[in-house]
Amino acid sequence: MLVSNNGIGRAVVDITGKLSRSTRNLKASEVREILALTEGKRVLSLAGGLPGPEVFPKDDLARIASRVIEELGDSALQYSPTLGVRPFREAVMDFLRSKGVKVESDDDVIVTTGSQEAIYLLAMTIINPGDTIIVESPTYLAALNVFRYYGADFVSVPIDENGMRVELLEQKIREAIQKGLKPKLIYTVATCHNPTGVIMPNERRKELLEVASKYDLLVIEDDPYSFFVFDDISFTHLKTLDSEGRVIYLSTFSKILAPGLRLGYMLANRQLVRTVELAKQMVDLHSSTLSQYIALYAIREGVVDKTIQRAREAYKVKRDVLVESLKEYMPKGSQWYKPRGGLFSFVYLPNGIDTSEMLQMAIDKGVAYVPGKNFFSDGSGTNAMRINFSYLPADKLRLGIKLIAETVMSYMKSKGIMAS
Ligand SMILES: Cc1ncc(COP(=O)(O)O)c(C=O)c1O
Repeated sequence: MLVSNNGIGRAVVDITGKLSRSTRNLKASEVREILALTEGKRVLSLAGGLPGPEVFPKDDLARIASRVIEELGDSALQYSPTLGVRPFREAVMDFLRSKGVKVESDDDVIVTTGSQEAIYLLAMTIINPGDTIIVESPTYLAALNVFRYYGADFVSVPIDENGMRVELLEQKIREAIQKGLKPKLIYTVATCHNPTGVIMPNERRKELLEVASKYDLLVIEDDPYSFFVFDDISFTHLKTLDSEGRVIYLSTFSKILAPGLRLGYMLANRQLVRTVELAKQMVDLHSSTLSQYIALYAIREGVVDKTIQRAREAYKVKRDVLVESLKEYMPKGSQWYKPRGGLFSFVYLPNGIDTSEMLQMAIDKGVAYVPGKNFFSDGSGTNAMRINFSYLPADKLRLGIKLIAETVMSYMKSKGIMAS
């Protein structure tokens, strides 16, 4: 039956009543919505987690892409195994070892379409409705959305300048169990946390693993950013500290080569990788063969390591510009963690400010950020915002912060909020 009018005078089928129950609950990703909203407009975007385009190794990738097609076209343009192309998976394991990530003899790697797909496949294979996931508060919003879609409950552990406050973890787990919840896994961005940029020290990592062991929890170590540690801070990956095969390590080529390649991966015990492989067979058969060969050559030729170094240097400069600009422009009572690495800073504004409500004002002024409440499983964080500092050139970044600060000031005035 043709029922609705799509605005151009053509009657089309109304699909509302035909959607599955789970689809009806789908929530838009606020970051992706903001990206769409600002597309084509003269808006300085501090919203997405975009790498600085100056960091992309464009010439190297152009040369490599053409070489891959010339030399390996018959395989590089073809379907390939669900786990990923073997030489690429081996190169990923060697690459990880070179970065201090321990690869056990019974581990395996599966290549995914960005690490976002790895999160999705893990949720699909691990989570039953009602399972409880322990997350940092705040945490990566797109992981929350996936876990929520699969019916997870959350226990949030607050963070400080050293990441998850692990001293609260056990008590939180006990309380959850007493309430009848079923904690199953801990999801953490322990290194260069999204959205705050903080790094968890080793003592906390060891304690986290002890608690995980005591309560038999899996641990997802989501690690897109450990390549970009700016200050002299040492840490050991949870995957490396783990001796029980309970850490599932995720990472990506999005920030160290190019997100357009859509290449991520998961390193974990072979048994779990096999299950994720079965799930992936249903989702997309395999990730782009061409991208995998391009990334393989880029690793072999040192392009990835060169890009990491370039990005780390560029982002450290921008981080410093960000921190100076925040200090200079933000109203009294604003607080943030100095990002020790990664791409983001999380800013708490004076109480009473609703950053979701304020966003349109900011966009009208020509700047965008992500409202803080998206990063909390319990809807808190209304007065916070995530600011990306990797994408814009330094002068625009500075201007962006200034425009945000001006927006905050106008908003506070319009609501009669006093700076504390
Ligand atoms: C913590 C975290 N995990 C996963 C992802 C997904 O990245 P991708 O799918 O591009 O690998 C991101 C992207 O920004 C992220 O910040």
